[in-house]
Order: sequence, then C-alpha cells, then structure tokens
Amino acid sequence: MPVNSSGGLFVSFEGGEGCGKSTQLKAVAAALHSTGREIITTREPGGSPAAEALRRTLLEDPACRDLNPLATGLLIAAGRHDHLETVVRPALKRGAVVLCDRYVDSTWAYQYGADGLSKENVHSIINVATQGLKTNITFIFDLPVAAARARWQARDHGHDRYEGYDDSYHERVRAVFLERARAEPERCRVLDASLPRETLTAQITAEILKWR
Ligand code: TMP
Repeated sequence: MPVNSSGGLFVSFEGGEGCGKSTQLKAVAAALHSTGREIITTREPGGSPAAEALRRTLLEDPACRDLNPLATGLLIAAGRHDHLETVVRPALKRGAVVLCDRYVDSTWAYQYGADGLSKENVHSIINVATQGLKTNITFIFDLPVAAARARWQARDHGHDRYEGYDDSYHERVRAVFLERARAEPERCRVLDASLPRETLTAQITAEILKWR
C-alpha cells in the first residue's frame, strides 16, 4: 500500500451525521490489523490533544454555538494544522495507514455547502492548514437524509443534537459530498451507507488492500 509520497496511506471516511462512518472506521481498522501494517485511527475536528481541546470548544461550549462560518472554519483549520503536524505526517512518514474520520471534504460540505462560506475562503483555510496534504482514498458514506435522521435520533436516545438544522441543511451537506466525489473519482469512492455493516466493512477493506 505504499502510495503516499512518504510511504504511508492516508484514508478519510466522510459523510453526513448518522451515516455509520465512525463505526466502519473501527471495523476496518480491526480488519486491517492482520496485515501487519501500523494502523492509526484518528478524527477531525480533533485527533491531537490541542485539536481535541479546540473540538470541545467548538462543539460543546455554548459560547461557540453561534460562531460565524469563517471563524468556525478557522478554528477547524487551526486544529487540523496541529493534527497533521503532530499525528498524521509523522505516521505517514513511518509508513502507517492513517484512517481519519472526516477531513477536508467535510469543510467543503459544512462550511461551504451548509453554512455558505465562499469558495475562496474555504480554499484558503484548507490550503493554509494542509499545505497540500491530500488523502489517497476517501470513502463517502451516502444516505438519504430521512434515514440518517432516524439513525442519529435512535443513537442519541431521542436527544437530537442536530435538531436545530432542517432537512435542507443536511441535503446541502449530502449534495456537496457527492459533488466532491464526482469531481475527483480517482480519490473518492461513494458507498451506499444503507448496506449491511459487514458488507461495507468488506468493501472498504478490499479497496484499501488494493493499494498494497
Ligand atoms: P462528527 O459528528 O463526525 O464527530 O463531526 C463533528 C462535526 O464537525 C460535524 O457536525 C461536522 C463538523 N465539521 C465541520 O463542520 N467541518 C470540518 O471540516 C469537519 C472536519 C467537521
């Protein structure tokens, strides 16, 4: 799988809330452990101690509830830069497979698609944070909004963290993920997130193993 210029393989899992990507990431990591490669699981926002602190601020501090889209994007970019410098780049240099729960496609889907930040600003905050580091493979978990809503409501035991957002917000998120996949078919694989868990785990694991 040594395709990243540094020898590692950088893989992201993307999709709207309730699509099952985080569960799949864990299952795929477990499946890949038998390959003998170093497997790192991480996430954004977060993934390093400083970026996790920024994540808590962004997602849990009531003072940030109404943060504007540019400030939100900049905070995510700050965490991303630290995460890449301290966790992802060193792991890729060691030749590891890095499985990351969300990356820059989420910035396109949420800050640009859902929140209306300009393309120029999204480009800028992504470029300054990543210095051009791209994933080798991105899995986009696609699910109709109604099905996703039913899942996250069940998961959160009736407490819907996203109830403040209407369906059109989630539709915009979904549409941008699909646009990204159409624009970069060599990097992105769209998955039918309604398939049985085991089927998805097998599909994703097989795709990653192709990069041997
Ligand atoms: P999670 O629910 O997958 O843990 O993601 C946390 C939230 O962060 C989710 O609502 C999407 C949001 N997010 C952005 O708005 N922009 C980004 O660039 C990333 C990585 C996540």
